[in-house]
Amino acid sequence: MSIPTGNLITQARKASEPMANRDTPFIYNEWYVAAFDHEVGRHLLARRLLDRRVVMYRTQDGEPVALEDRCAHRSFPLSRGHLEDDSVVCGYHGFRYDQSGDLTQVPSQKNCPRGIGIRRYPLVRQGPLLWIWLGDESLADTGLIPRQDWIDDPAWACTSGYFHHPGNYVSLHENLMDLTHLSFLHANTIGTPDYACAPYKLDFKEGHYTLIREVVPTTLSPVWGRTTGLEGCTTAARIATSEFLSPALHRVSVTFYDSAQPVEGREQFHIRTAHILTPETLNSLHYFIVHGRDFARHDQALGEFMHEQLFAAFNEDVQGLGALETALDDRDEQHYEISVASDAPAVVTRIYLKKRADAERQPRNGQVG
Ligand code: FES
Ligand SMILES: [Fe+2]
Repeated sequence: MSIPTGNLITQARKASEPMANRDTPFIYNEWYVAAFDHEVGRHLLARRLLDRRVVMYRTQDGEPVALEDRCAHRSFPLSRGHLEDDSVVCGYHGFRYDQSGDLTQVPSQKNCPRGIGIRRYPLVRQGPLLWIWLGDESLADTGLIPRQDWIDDPAWACTSGYFHHPGNYVSLHENLMDLTHLSFLHANTIGTPDYACAPYKLDFKEGHYTLIREVVPTTLSPVWGRTTGLEGCTTAARIATSEFLSPALHRVSVTFYDSAQPVEGREQFHIRTAHILTPETLNSLHYFIVHGRDFARHDQALGEFMHEQLFAAFNEDVQGLGALETALDDRDEQHYEISVASDAPAVVTRIYLKKRADAERQPRNGQVG
């Protein structure tokens, strides 16, 4: 057995240097999903996002609000206070903040200090998702939200779910850009053995990386075979497009059909999944998922079967990457990683994430961050 030493380890480490990893600082100047719209109501919802404490609620008019979850007086978490009309009242000494985050009342005195408040974060609803901007507010252009209008389109039947994921968001992006793992990590759910070596095409544009994998002919795993009626068909086609759309979003679109049918008029089945990644800390993230199909849209039992099967597969990623994180906790001075040809989409994605993170730390106008 040969274990690389000296130069080889140095080379492997050098090759990994430009890539983001679990120690790379967050990218703040970006829209992230803070919550599903239905989670935010007339109560105080605390959530840690990119290592910031945030509290969310909805005004009486239905507007979602996100504030810093820290009182300006003695840093008590505001989420432990209560809502009064559209204001948050701190649960420690009763300081009151309006929906802009401005301090409006100090109960122990007549006068309220002026110009004091806590940070309010832009929070924008798009369909079932609430997008938040935690970075430089002057750059918070809502046109930059990677909108997914199909999620709200009746042409798609969608279900959604959430995992609290015990890993770094970079490794989940990498997992999503590397579909060779389907044959192994998902051998018992959505993967088939031919998936890992199927031909693929790549399309890389700065910040938008696409991997198209064509598995033709194939037999479909039960979740797709049973729901498309192609179960047992040995000439099925599975064309999967994986796209990195932003540090917060990855989309997988898959088309299924019977490749033995004439191209003209053959029935096609489409599914899409929005994998929504919002870092919580450097080793945990909020993993929101919306999955849609454009067939059997009104078949509830089929929708439930698909949801259950798919989320069992996503849980394999969550558990697997959690285990990977633990292994990385135990790395020693001999630690190194190597990349192979099929890692190309993941590598460009990680290089991009690193560049974005580094760019935010460049001094601007004499300031950092
Ligand atoms: S800490 Fe909030 S009022 Fe004192
Ligand atoms: Fe996976």
